[in-house]
Amino acid sequence: MTFEIETPRVLVVDTETPDTKRLVAFLEENGYKVLWARDGEAAYNIIDSEPINVLISELRLQRIDGMRLLSIARARNPEVCVIAVTKDADVGLATEAMRQGAYDFQVKPVNLEKIKAVIERGISHQQLVGQITDLHTRLDSRYGFENLIGISRGMNDIFEKIRQIAPTRATVLISGETGTGKELIALAIHQNSPRRDERFVKLNCAALSEGVLESELFGHEKGAFTGAISMRRGRFEVADCGTLFIDEVSEITPPVQVKLLRMLQEREFERVGGSDTIKVDVRLVVATNQRLEPLVRKKKFREDLYYRLKVVTIEVPPLRERKEDIPLLVNAFISEFNQLHGKKVKGITRGAMDLFMQHYWPGNVRELRNCIEGMVVFCTRERLLDVADLPAHLRASKKRRQFFRIPVGISMEEVEKIAMEETLKSVGYDKQKAAEILGIGLRTLYRKMKEYDIWSG
Ligand SMILES: Nc1ncnc2c1ncn2[C@@H]1O[C@H](COP(=O)(O)OP(=O)(O)OP(=O)(O)O)[C@@H](O)[C@H]1O
Ligand SMILES: [Mg+2]
Repeated sequence: MTFEIETPRVLVVDTETPDTKRLVAFLEENGYKVLWARDGEAAYNIIDSEPINVLISELRLQRIDGMRLLSIARARNPEVCVIAVTKDADVGLATEAMRQGAYDFQVKPVNLEKIKAVIERGISHQQLVGQITDLHTRLDSRYGFENLIGISRGMNDIFEKIRQIAPTRATVLISGETGTGKELIALAIHQNSPRRDERFVKLNCAALSEGVLESELFGHEKGAFTGAISMRRGRFEVADCGTLFIDEVSEITPPVQVKLLRMLQEREFERVGGSDTIKVDVRLVVATNQRLEPLVRKKKFREDLYYRLKVVTIEVPPLRERKEDIPLLVNAFISEFNQLHGKKVKGITRGAMDLFMQHYWPGNVRELRNCIEGMVVFCTRERLLDVADLPAHLRASKKRRQFFRIPVGISMEEVEKIAMEETLKSVGYDKQKAAEILGIGLRTLYRKMKEYDIWSG
């Protein structure tokens, strides 16, 4: 890719004199597109309506003076190359112009060759800055925030949202299937926020009993319960001034939800077994791979907390709904694992990529990443990954896919129940395998089986 500025545009601002005409002709001969304004106001109108690379201006102008033009031009294009010109040497004016960012100052009659050299230097500087800015925006939009990769519409919307909400202290609710990148997004929010130099503290609420969870979040005083042999600060205190990321927030039980809500509203709490009120400044980001509305309906999740959390929501689409991201992710993971395992995999064949594009990816990006890691590890030569390298279930995914019918008019929960039952049936009730295919944790599978009353084989 080249970053050339097409034809550099030079705006000359001076009254019509033989000298000015000579300057305009000289610039045109040298391949520049020259715009000529006879007074400050005409120049102002040009600067306001089209991009200018170079401004050569007499400083003592009618109506709007040259110094003003200089600052307007720089406001429009901070890299603009300004050459200030005056009839007689005026040290004060010259110093002021240079101080305001002019590249050069000349006393008439101007030295054409010197002007040319200054313009060339200015233009090449602009190209460099252009390249860097372009690179930054490309990095931002494609490789996004830190390690968050994506070019799909869905990911771009997420990048845009992160850009908007990162600088604020708003609580963010990230929802999406397992492995879609919720934790990476939470981290990106932190790293793009003014709190980036402070702590990013995590807590996963799954698998924690109510008591443990409360004390993990809010800490406890010595003797608060059997085994509390000393005071312990909770994650909220540890994350003071930084960001706290609470994963699987749906697992928090209603009594602890009350405490969390108070924390969000008043920014204060007490440690378990303590009476001192502790105030902290924490930005909260929470994630869930379950929809919270049904839990609210079943009174398992407090409605007031739900509304408090859902003000700013990021919904991460599953990978199967943003297939454009797959090639980019595949290549990024291949280079990552080449480095990690000292391999030299050169890429992937069309055929293998096609199967990747067709797969359902129940485990989303995590599943894709694990899949690539396995393939890279087993690849012994310097070559492309091919269909034969794919895990069996992916190779067969097209041919042997079984189908089942889902009637119209049923809830998502019923759909989920049917999917679990059918998957379990298809793998001979091997829970581990079923959980893998469904892309959920074994614990989650067991929990849901109990909840939906699914036969366990
Ligand atoms: N857009 C992405 N670009 C690069 N890597 C990604 C992306 N999304 C996810 N990953 C990778 O996939 C894996 C899973 O991501 P992450 O842990 O953020 O998912 P999650 O949504 O929090 O999953 P869970 O719901 O199971 O906790 C991680 O290794 C992460 O680095
Ligand atoms: Mg996670």
